[in-house]
Amino acid sequence: MTGDPLRRPLDDVWYCVGESRLVRPGRLAAVAVGDEAIVVGREESGALFALRDRCPHRGMALSAGKLVEGALVCPFHGWRFAPDGRCTAIPALARRDEAQFGSVRLPRFAVAERAGLIWVATGETGAAPPIPELTFEPCGQLVEILEVEASYDLVALSFVDPAHVAYVHDLWWWRPSKTLKEKVKHFAPSPFGFTMTSHTAKTASLAYRLLGAVPQVEIEFRLPGVRLERIDAGRRQIANYTFASPLPNGRTALINAMYWNWPLLNAFKPLGRRLMRQFLGQDRDVLQIAQRGLDRKPAMVLMGESDVQSQWYFSLKREFLRARAAGEAFANPLEPRELRWRS
Ligand code: FES
Ligand SMILES: [Fe+2]
Repeated sequence: MTGDPLRRPLDDVWYCVGESRLVRPGRLAAVAVGDEAIVVGREESGALFALRDRCPHRGMALSAGKLVEGALVCPFHGWRFAPDGRCTAIPALARRDEAQFGSVRLPRFAVAERAGLIWVATGETGAAPPIPELTFEPCGQLVEILEVEASYDLVALSFVDPAHVAYVHDLWWWRPSKTLKEKVKHFAPSPFGFTMTSHTAKTASLAYRLLGAVPQVEIEFRLPGVRLERIDAGRRQIANYTFASPLPNGRTALINAMYWNWPLLNAFKPLGRRLMRQFLGQDRDVLQIAQRGLDRKPAMVLMGESDVQSQWYFSLKREFLRARAAGEAFANPLEPRELRWRS
């Protein structure tokens, strides 16, 4: 891993670590944010907590333990921890007051739940940028999570890379036409990122046309690696949210969560899942091969207006790091701009 902070995933920001159903009441789950192993638990009340998944005694994974009467119990020697990370009991002690176990504490992480997903930040508070929200009440959702052997940046850049679509996602249902067309898109800065302002998708793909009405589409990108596509066709609304989350050993989770408020779409969920896997798998396969090239030589040549959003990604990240180091508020460095490319 490189020492340049600009090339590492941002620290102490919210990352999606999985679906809500990963952790049922009274249960634990092992997740990771970068090289930090984290145990997420859900109390019987439904409240979540997140702690370092490493027992301070002899390093055991606490996610392999149990929640007993609201306490996390290590499976090795039974040390107990409260959801706030305090050690509350060491069963092997003959005389309790002989050891100062009250001072033993697991690092605790901020954890939150939104739209059926669990988010963790590697600090205690969970800093800005905010966790993505839904703008409507969904009647269905579809979530796919893939592991990609590629850096955080490479995966996040694929969210703002219009030029790869024609080559990587050459699917009949997504791109019925084989020719590249010139596109003009309008962008404006938005909190911690930028938004491609709502436009009418006239020559929309088959997938969009199935919606009936001509949809309005808005695509927002924000740090650390969050792409929010909102499709609005009258009363019918679809949100297609894509996130990158750092995993151990420089790998990255590619997460796609789709939500809709049109009950008919629930019938197409099995088909939708297959198509989503196919689509994300195309990204994964190409990103993994590109990563091997970047491992040999990490430089990228970003050229022309189809790569401006990629330049913006690094500008936003640079400003985020600067602001945090200086203890100042993030000041979005972007200006409204029109971009033209062929895709
Ligand atoms: S390793 Fe956890 S109690 Fe010993
Ligand atoms: Fe892609």
